[in-house]
Amino acid sequence: MLKPPQGVAEAARLLAGGEVVALPTETVYGLGGAALNPHACARIFEAKERPLYDPLIVHIPDLTWLGKLARISPLVSRLAEAFWPGPLTMVLPRTELVPDLVTSGQDTVAVRMSAHPIFQQIAMAFGQPIAAPSANRFGRISPTHPDHVRAELDGRIPLIVDGGACQHGIESTIVLVSGDDCLQILRHGPITEEQLQAFAPVREASDAAVAAPGNLKSHYAPRTPLDLVEVLPVADPATGLLAWTSSGEGFGHIEYLSKTQDLREAAANLYGAMRRLDESGVTRIVAESVPETGLGVAIMERLRKAAARD
Ligand code: TXA
Ligand code: MG
Repeated sequence: MLKPPQGVAEAARLLAGGEVVALPTETVYGLGGAALNPHACARIFEAKERPLYDPLIVHIPDLTWLGKLARISPLVSRLAEAFWPGPLTMVLPRTELVPDLVTSGQDTVAVRMSAHPIFQQIAMAFGQPIAAPSANRFGRISPTHPDHVRAELDGRIPLIVDGGACQHGIESTIVLVSGDDCLQILRHGPITEEQLQAFAPVREASDAAVAAPGNLKSHYAPRTPLDLVEVLPVADPATGLLAWTSSGEGFGHIEYLSKTQDLREAAANLYGAMRRLDESGVTRIVAESVPETGLGVAIMERLRKAAARD
């Protein structure tokens, strides 16, 4: 584990050597490797135990890379200008430069530009695109703190760059941009549907649509069974509570998403709270629903996945 400036120089050196390193972003920690080096990408899949059918997001150091990796339309440029660097990932038609391993053989590539200052420094020092999925083992909760990364990947990777806690705490919004007039949200996140609607009509991705292949039903899951409820069950000491409004008296372990019902704070606390509940020894977790407005949509998407059993 290293902090900047040593962490920046060492990460850039390892990336150039085809190694994978854990890096802070403004959403969650990423497991980065050189996107244009298939060997490095293979190491990412290996360290995460991620199936090869689940493609990687490519993080670009600067805008000049966008046109090298993807075919862009005026709508793409407007979105990049409005939201980059920041927590928006665009799925776009790819170019030949992108290795098949990155896209899982699809004809689209997911591109994003991180706003995290440490990530930016590393991307600039390395000077090439970085493929980075969340730095957790496949199917597990995304890490929002370097300690979470250590718990997930210790011994499997040569370096974790310590950037402290992540600002947003949930993964980027993923949007499929088709043509110049249609957006489809493949994963809800910090950039909300309302924000995107200012640029083009937004359609919900149907199940049959491309959909994010990694968006399996059960994802972001704690090991302890989790139920998402509208009405709380009778409290008991073997049950943990992920609380939104209730005080949670009588439960074995309680985590509050936000005591002031602030959705931003709730998003930033979500994964850490799930991890602590998982480690608390309770045999069941109940999560209270949050209002599905603004960031609440992205939070509920994660809670539903955490509650899915298959
Ligand atoms: O905030 C984030 O996006 C974080 C940080 C590290 O940047 N990254 C992240 O990556 O969440 P990952 O791999 O955990 O989730 C990326 C999702 C996966 O569900 C994957 O299937 C989807 O993006 N994806 C990647 N390329 C795609 C493509 N070409 N078409 C559709 N979905 C794609
Ligand atoms: Mg992930």
